[in-house]
Amino acid sequence: MSHQTHHPRRVAVVGAGNVGASFAYGLLLSGLASEIVLIDANHAKAEGEAMDLNHAVPLAHPTRVFAGSYADCAGAAVTVITAGSAQRPGETRLDLVQRNAQIFQQIIPQVVAANPNGLLLIATNPVDVLSYAAWKFSGLPSQRVIGSGTILDTARFRYLLSQRFDVDPRSVHAFIIGEHGDSEVPVWSLANIAGMRLPVYCSSNGFECGLDTLDEIFAQTRDAAYHIIERKGATYYAIATGLVRIVEAILRDQGSVLSVSSLQDDTYGVGDVYFSLPTVLDAAGVNHVIRLDLAEDEIAGLQRSARILRQTIESLKL
Ligand code: LAC
Repeated sequence: MSHQTHHPRRVAVVGAGNVGASFAYGLLLSGLASEIVLIDANHAKAEGEAMDLNHAVPLAHPTRVFAGSYADCAGAAVTVITAGSAQRPGETRLDLVQRNAQIFQQIIPQVVAANPNGLLLIATNPVDVLSYAAWKFSGLPSQRVIGSGTILDTARFRYLLSQRFDVDPRSVHAFIIGEHGDSEVPVWSLANIAGMRLPVYCSSNGFECGLDTLDEIFAQTRDAAYHIIERKGATYYAIATGLVRIVEAILRDQGSVLSVSSLQDDTYGVGDVYFSLPTVLDAAGVNHVIRLDLAEDEIAGLQRSARILRQTIESLKL
């Protein structure tokens, strides 16, 4: 099969571990992809996941799921990278950077050699630094190298706010920006329900939303992964669902606004770094990053987050 064969709805997944397999499962149930190829250094694991997923096809959607090699990334619209070490209890995401950057140095060139025209979607942590590394190793335009970023943190934030205010999480509009990690930033100034900023929503509808309440909700958002890893050893369902949502925006050319990690200019004072801001995603990848009317403390928090990521990138000497 020629490298140039185009499979408009083929999605390749590198890494058939918890996140990669959960993503492949969610993608199968979505019906978005016509082909899902699973690639893993442990080929038997990829084969086993593909076999198990194929047995769901009669109950889901006509989809060709198979275990392949990097050559099978050819023609894929998106290649999702989930391979690498995951956080162990007590580890931060940034602690993984050296280990996973070395793995990326092997993986990314092989993906791009097979598929110079597709998009890369990075999930491996620390996702912002590894998205930057993937961009550098790939030589692709940054528009086509996207990190899952704070799409998961934003979902956690919306869920926790929805529990506090007793509404559908899909009716809570709020963003987490910056690092997918300990320095992430809640955008309280723009958070809203029914078009009302939270202080107005609270006073108009009889809710107490003092600073301590809001601080607790953000702390639970920021630290969620640690609490889940302590209990079940890893996280995978919500991040997998975030990856499916990103792939949907790409495959359906939706122009969706999602909080994902992309190459930032120095609008906020720290450029040449990947971090998350609300971003318009379509078939070509990053269409544009939305300019937010942030409060002063939010800008300061974003600059701090960006500096931490920039320093980590510099430590890799890419
Ligand atoms: C988490 C991992 C995906 O936040 O970083 O659950």
